[in-house]
Amino acid sequence: MKKPRVVLGVSGGIAAYKACELLRRLTESGHDVRVVPTDASLNFVGAATWSALSGNPVSTEVWEGVHEVPHVRIGQAADLVVVAPATADMLAKAAHGLADDLLTNTLLTARCPVVFAPAMHTEMWEHPATQENVATLRRRGAVVIEPAVGRLTGVDTGKGRLPDPGEIFEVCRRVLTRGPGVPDLAGRHVVITAGGTREPLDPVRYLGNRSSGKQGYALARTAVARGARVTLIETDTGLPAPAGADVVRAGTALQLREAVLEAAADADVVVMAAAVADFRPAAYATGKIKKKDGQEPAPVELVRNPDILAEVAADRARQGQLVVGFAAETDDVLVNGREKLRRKGCDLLVVNEVGERKTFGSEENEAVVLGADGSETAVPYGPKEALADTVWDLVSARFR
Ligand SMILES: Cc1cc2nc3c(=O)[nH]c(=O)nc-3n(C[C@H](O)[C@H](O)[C@H](O)COP(=O)(O)O)c2cc1C
Repeated sequence: MKKPRVVLGVSGGIAAYKACELLRRLTESGHDVRVVPTDASLNFVGAATWSALSGNPVSTEVWEGVHEVPHVRIGQAADLVVVAPATADMLAKAAHGLADDLLTNTLLTARCPVVFAPAMHTEMWEHPATQENVATLRRRGAVVIEPAVGRLTGVDTGKGRLPDPGEIFEVCRRVLTRGPGVPDLAGRHVVITAGGTREPLDPVRYLGNRSSGKQGYALARTAVARGARVTLIETDTGLPAPAGADVVRAGTALQLREAVLEAAADADVVVMAAAVADFRPAAYATGKIKKKDGQEPAPVELVRNPDILAEVAADRARQGQLVVGFAAETDDVLVNGREKLRRKGCDLLVVNEVGERKTFGSEENEAVVLGADGSETAVPYGPKEALADTVWDLVSARFR
């Protein structure tokens, strides 16, 4: 079988060295990679490195090997173009259709999916010019991965860091699988919750549940690859941050509620995959609760937590906003699921049965997605990403 052809564009950011790892992942997983660096990027990583690692020739401008018309052919032949890191300058050029070097020419001639992984200082990222360029590129169907938050060049910290190369690779893999065309969630803001809340009893103990967060993370990763802007609200799951998602931490049900209501204000869809505790301890002991000789422990009094799913569904922050819930059931799974869908007032409810090798903690899941319109979509046992993609298929069909 022919290897998928990937163009790895590298522009002049300090994170160019991380693209070596991305290149390795792509070549080792059977892709034929042509690296197209910009002139500026060669100040960070030299052409010899790209050539040796990719096994392909490397040039930055259109005047080499002119008989092969590289300024047109490289883009035309590609199955995927990924630009990592993408500088503010490169985003501007791409948004405005400039073509003054080999990479910008390639971007104009490519008809395959294009992924940009921007990396720059927070000020450059937040500048309205950059934000408008990003919006333009997304509107045209490019997948622009939100930068990560963390240490930047020098002593600065903030949003603008290149996500982990392994995570960028995963985005590329998914985008390649989906093929050409404008991604169906392009221009949509999706809010996803993941993990189980922890309701503190004292500084060392909490009431929790067995949700791992893996289903919510799978929803976030697949949504990024389908072009969405993703806010992932998670409960200290300890899972590696998915590339391209804005991650918000919320440990308790009350914190989660606050984060969801804030993020939902401009969301097109809210997916509540987190297992939110129904109850929390009525009181929080500021010191560790000690056992006392000869005394039984005091009973733990519980109070109800707010029903976030029902609240978000009842008070839609925007017209047309979709709300998706999850139900983990052990008995009468579908009967309870249908009743929950009606009671919560959401558009879709993913009903999964808690059991061996399913739902909590596992890599796989099996579910039925119930629609408020009476539809029922069975998702056979398989990776949580497959269930996530079915959820997005159903959401996307409702947007249309
Ligand atoms: C040390 C250094 C680090 C830089 N890092 C970045 C960066 O991370 N992101 C960015 O957008 N520009 C960065 N720049 C600025 C770009 O290199 C500059 O805008 C250049 O014109 C980009 O050219 P290109 O987009 O053709 O690669 C950096 C410049 C220097 C000198």
